[in-house]
Amino acid sequence: MSQSKGFALVTGASSGIGAAYAARLAERGHDLILVARRLDRLESLADQLRGLYGRTVETVQADLANEPDVAQVENILSSHPNVQMLVNCAGLGALGPATSPAAAAVGGMLKVNVLALTQLSLAAAKRFAAAKSGTIINIGSVVAFMPVASAGGYSGSKAYVLNFSRALQAELAESNVTVQVVMPGPVRSEFFGDKPSPFPEHLFMDSEMLVDTALIALEQGEMVCFPNLQEIEAWQAVEAARGGLVKGFSQTGKPAPRYSK
Ligand SMILES: NC(=O)c1ccc[n+]([C@@H]2O[C@H](COP(=O)([O-])OP(=O)(O)OC[C@H]3O[C@@H](n4cnc5c(N)ncnc54)[C@H](OP(=O)(O)O)[C@@H]3O)[C@@H](O)[C@H]2O)c1
Repeated sequence: MSQSKGFALVTGASSGIGAAYAARLAERGHDLILVARRLDRLESLADQLRGLYGRTVETVQADLANEPDVAQVENILSSHPNVQMLVNCAGLGALGPATSPAAAAVGGMLKVNVLALTQLSLAAAKRFAAAKSGTIINIGSVVAFMPVASAGGYSGSKAYVLNFSRALQAELAESNVTVQVVMPGPVRSEFFGDKPSPFPEHLFMDSEMLVDTALIALEQGEMVCFPNLQEIEAWQAVEAARGGLVKGFSQTGKPAPRYSK
């Protein structure tokens, strides 16, 4: 067995993208702490990865919409020996019309997609900054750029993940801590449950391919990764336009002339 690259704590490891991260990181020599609500799934994956790669794999049952459970995982990030990486994969999409009864689910989604991700990132950031080493990977979504009907809360949560992760990366740049935000398009997983996906089948990527691509991007030093964006110039144009916008509203505190009566 190769020497350990330290523990990676992966949330949402019971299915989809998180399970794929767990497998790929074990293959690359990481020991693992797997977090989700479905403990049976975590135990089964842990057995499989121990057998395949001989790594230490621990499991933690936690509902990340539940504050005491988040605090438990924060504590692990702060005190467990040799944690080198956090992958915030746990997430859900409470999709549907804002006026439907399902709107109540939006609050629960924000607890996982935004609050838990923030608290766990900050716990890891504090430890990694002190150690001057460590990696945080946060899973966003291209939906961050698609404020469409029936996805207001989800789109907003993923725009948050993008901005929060980038700001954290800027803050930790001097500390030798890496913060990567991964912005997948549609991925084959349990995300859509038994509901029909709003995207055509040809747009979907497998979870393993998504993770392999994002890990190559990480090695290449790409802190914002769009795995299926074929032309990076499209993202560069957004960045340039954003810079122009910031410049535009950094000129004066006066109302713009178009609002004069
Ligand atoms: N699939 C896509 O098309 C797509 C595209 C862009 C971004 N994403 C993002 O990718 C991430 C992973 O999603 P996925 O596609 O892999 O979907 P998935 O197969 O449904 O996996 C979601 C994971 O999140 C965990 N989770 C959900 N609610 C939780 C809670 N309250 N507490 C703890 N864990 C919870 C689930 O575990 P338990 O149910 O066992 O708790 C599961 O492991 C999400 O952040 C999602 O927004 C997905």
